[in-house]
Amino acid sequence: PQGETFMGTADTNFAQMGTADEFLQAIVRVKLQLGHSYFLPHCSRERTLDSVNPSDPKESIGRVGLADISSVQKAMDCAQEAQKIWGSTPIAIRVNLLQQIADTLQMQRSEWVAWMVLEVGKPIREADAEVSEAIDFCRYYSEMAEGLHPGYTYDVLGETNRYVYQPKGIGVVIAPWNYPLAISVGMITAGLVTGNCVLYKPAEQSAVIGCKISELISNLISDLGLPQGVFQGLPGWGEEIGPELVRHPAVHFITFTGSRQVGCQIYAQAAQMSPGQRHLKRVVAEMGGKNAIIVDASADLDQAVQGVVQSAFGYAGQKCSACARVIVLAAIYEPFLERLRTATQSLTIGCATDPATTIGPVIDATAQERLQKNITLAKQRLTVALESAAPTSGYFVGPVIFTDVPPDDPLAQEELFGPVLAVLRVADFDQALQVANGTDYALTGGLYSRTPSHIHRAMQEYICGNLYINRGITGALVGRQPFGGFRCSGVGSKAGGPDYLLQFVEPKVVTENI
Ligand code: NAD
Ligand code: ALA
Repeated sequence: PQGETFMGTADTNFAQMGTADEFLQAIVRVKLQLGHSYFLPHCSRERTLDSVNPSDPKESIGRVGLADISSVQKAMDCAQEAQKIWGSTPIAIRVNLLQQIADTLQMQRSEWVAWMVLEVGKPIREADAEVSEAIDFCRYYSEMAEGLHPGYTYDVLGETNRYVYQPKGIGVVIAPWNYPLAISVGMITAGLVTGNCVLYKPAEQSAVIGCKISELISNLISDLGLPQGVFQGLPGWGEEIGPELVRHPAVHFITFTGSRQVGCQIYAQAAQMSPGQRHLKRVVAEMGGKNAIIVDASADLDQAVQGVVQSAFGYAGQKCSACARVIVLAAIYEPFLERLRTATQSLTIGCATDPATTIGPVIDATAQERLQKNITLAKQRLTVALESAAPTSGYFVGPVIFTDVPPDDPLAQEELFGPVLAVLRVADFDQALQVANGTDYALTGGLYSRTPSHIHRAMQEYICGNLYINRGITGALVGRQPFGGFRCSGVGSKAGGPDYLLQFVEPKVVTENI
């Protein structure tokens, strides 16, 4: 069926004079708020976590009181009480809540950008696009929820049949740090608008933004006269409170975005029945990728180089959708590699607060060390085509390109989540597809080609959730490119897509003999 295309929120037009200044001023304002402490309800005032600026780790973003096992139980008790009210709250009020979240984010756009620039080192333009995505999730899921609400009517003479959707029950949202605003807001609002109370665990590395999201949504809920248990933020260590949240018998679904390792663990834990549990849990898990772009001999190389560079190195490669492998046909391998090297050298690596920065820092010291270790090991067995220098003061890793990487090398198989690109040489298009499909993942994929038969074959044979032809492979838009993968990249239907909300409702049929 032909869907109506959702019109998303426009990003800021940075070409307009003075626009960048507005964001720089917001960064100055937000800097005056750094170092504050955040204590959400049920969280400890003694056990805290310090969040720092990855561009400048001496700068504290804030201190966050941690949730522990007793906080989880207290929050769950509140959610169980609130579920009775929220589950029967009219759809118009639920939709109104999402609209208010969207309007507030729009009003505070430059502040949210500043918090992302400072807490997770996201360059200004990318942070701006993330605010748009968060707003789009609210508006899109509002529309989808209104569409679901009437259900279906299958009446015949003497009998009414009503097919309706009811909330599943309490949901747990476990979020990553790399899209601290958009992915959190998307997962939370999908659960809420379908009538489920939500407990939200933000990632440790973006705990301050997690607290700010929690305060924003909790305040709006309180203004609506609804109980605090409808939505609760629980910042805490994933290994400590994650399993408590997942295993709790009152939980009906877990919406997770993060690593494959944790996602698989959650999937297994959620399958175990806990004492007192009377239902099976739904797990929606969006996980990693080892995404490829194929460049064939007919490709427009200027376009291909630009798309590969953006997809591989945007946000320092810390996107599940990022291009980690570029698979190049032998006929154009050398000219492509040369242009790729030159284009990558022209990137500006620096603090995320600088509008000229194209590559900011990686998220923390652990990520920096992990990447440096993997690069050092890979250098022992592979050829380096480029290794860019990076500032030494923050958690920076300069882009690295390895060439002639064998398809079964760990560098071509395991997600590294950083600015490291493997270039693979293939003899022909058959081999290109085979190599592209030869990992455990199936998230995004790309093809640069002007050969219709190749494009057609890629549409049929490329194993990935989101395939992009003759464009970059990151930056999916809500309602236009619903996003998500399969294989070990995830389970569940696509975020920002027409089936997403169905995962958080129970269909019920009522038949009346009249
Ligand atoms: P992560 O798995 O380390 O952490 C994600 C969340 O899980 C955090 O909130 C963390 O505290 C929590 N967690 C950690 N251990 C847990 C446990 N034992 N039980 C329950 N929760 C636990 O991932 P990350 O480093 O924050 O994010 C990077 C990963 O996320 C990458 O693999 C990336 O590909 C993936 N990702 C996927 C998508 C997608 O849409 N497919 C989007 C963004 C990121
Ligand atoms: N949804 C994000 C993208 O498409 C991860 O890049």
